[in-house]
Amino acid sequence: MAQQADITAMRRAVELAARGLGATSPNPVVGCVITDASGDVVGEGFHQRAGGPHAEVHALREAGGRARGATAYVTLEPCNHTGRTGPCAQALIAAGVSRVVYAVGDPNPQATGGADTLRAAGVEVGQGLLEAEAEAGNIAWLTSVRHGRPFVRWKYAATLDGRIAAADGTSRWISSAESRADVHRLRAEADAVVVGSGTARADDPHLAVRGIDGAVQPLRVVVDTEATAVKPGARVLDDAAPTLIAVADDAAVSLDGAEVVRLPRAARGLSVPALLDALHARGVRSVLLEGGPTLAGAFVAAGAVDQVVGYLAPVLLGAGPNALADAGISTITEALRLDVTETVRVGPDLRVTAAPHPTATLKGA
Ligand SMILES: NC(=O)c1ccc[n+]([C@@H]2O[C@H](COP(=O)([O-])OP(=O)(O)OC[C@H]3O[C@@H](n4cnc5c(N)ncnc54)[C@H](OP(=O)(O)O)[C@@H]3O)[C@@H](O)[C@H]2O)c1
Repeated sequence: MAQQADITAMRRAVELAARGLGATSPNPVVGCVITDASGDVVGEGFHQRAGGPHAEVHALREAGGRARGATAYVTLEPCNHTGRTGPCAQALIAAGVSRVVYAVGDPNPQATGGADTLRAAGVEVGQGLLEAEAEAGNIAWLTSVRHGRPFVRWKYAATLDGRIAAADGTSRWISSAESRADVHRLRAEADAVVVGSGTARADDPHLAVRGIDGAVQPLRVVVDTEATAVKPGARVLDDAAPTLIAVADDAAVSLDGAEVVRLPRAARGLSVPALLDALHARGVRSVLLEGGPTLAGAFVAAGAVDQVVGYLAPVLLGAGPNALADAGISTITEALRLDVTETVRVGPDLRVTAAPHPTATLKGA
């Protein structure tokens, strides 16, 4: 059974890993804590950005000679391959670390095998400590490796009666200033923020991160089949963040200031799997889908929503569009059932986080 000291050190490693969210793609977030024989922390690190040193390397640098005979706690199995940086398993061995405890095995076929390398060198290896916590912290990257597409978090803000706009289309501001600030955190954690052409037309959203120092701006994506919703001067075309407009193969595009990707059409709009493939090919590992309800319905119908974050405001409207439009579900037995993983008060609102159970696989367009 794990000692309390092991749990404390791994929990700290999970906290450290979270600091890299939004900045490490296409790599995972990883945290590492090194403790000496008396249990004192001698090194800490996390993977800060793709191409930069891995968490173990940061922690080993801080530990210096005190790494000899120490224990390293790592949220993900130390890598075994030479990518843009050297293999961490070798770095741990070279530093004289005598024990390595990691939380989650590396599912990446190119990088796996670190534990075997460590064992072969005589290092004691433990696996699975705080596995669920570490997995939750790295869910975007793990989902992308397992499914070969980005992790999709669908976020919406609704009244308590489930409306995302009033009957006349006005929707600012349903949720509180606190909730809106929280959404900027979600944007900062994502590699891409996606909206449909309806939202682009109605709200002219900006979609960049504001108010978070050092945040890496996500790619702003508008799904605009006919290339008619994003017009010159649209806020999404400013230089605050890169922007990608997804249009149909045969659309006539006359827009400067944004990159355009051409995708196949689906029965309605563009193919959601093709959109996710295109984003994945660009290194996008996590998507924050910010609606609206029509596009969100298409993502749900495609089995491409991995997590739902709903901000429920204590407001009633009684009429107006619902949070989710048609998702291809016509009878109660087809209902997409979710597990609630978190409920938090955010200012006057309630933030509910839930995930399909079991994780749905991607269906056709
Ligand atoms: N409270 C909130 O959280 C929130 C968030 C976002 C939006 N909103 C509100 O929602 C309203 C806009 O929502 P909306 O449902 O009209 O628009 P939407 O979901 O933003 O965009 C829908 C449009 O996306 C395009 N599209 C491209 N591929 C698609 C696909 N595979 N499936 C479906 N559509 C696809 C279609 O138009 P084309 O094919 O012609 O491009 C479709 O009409 C506004 O009132 C906005 O204020 C509220």
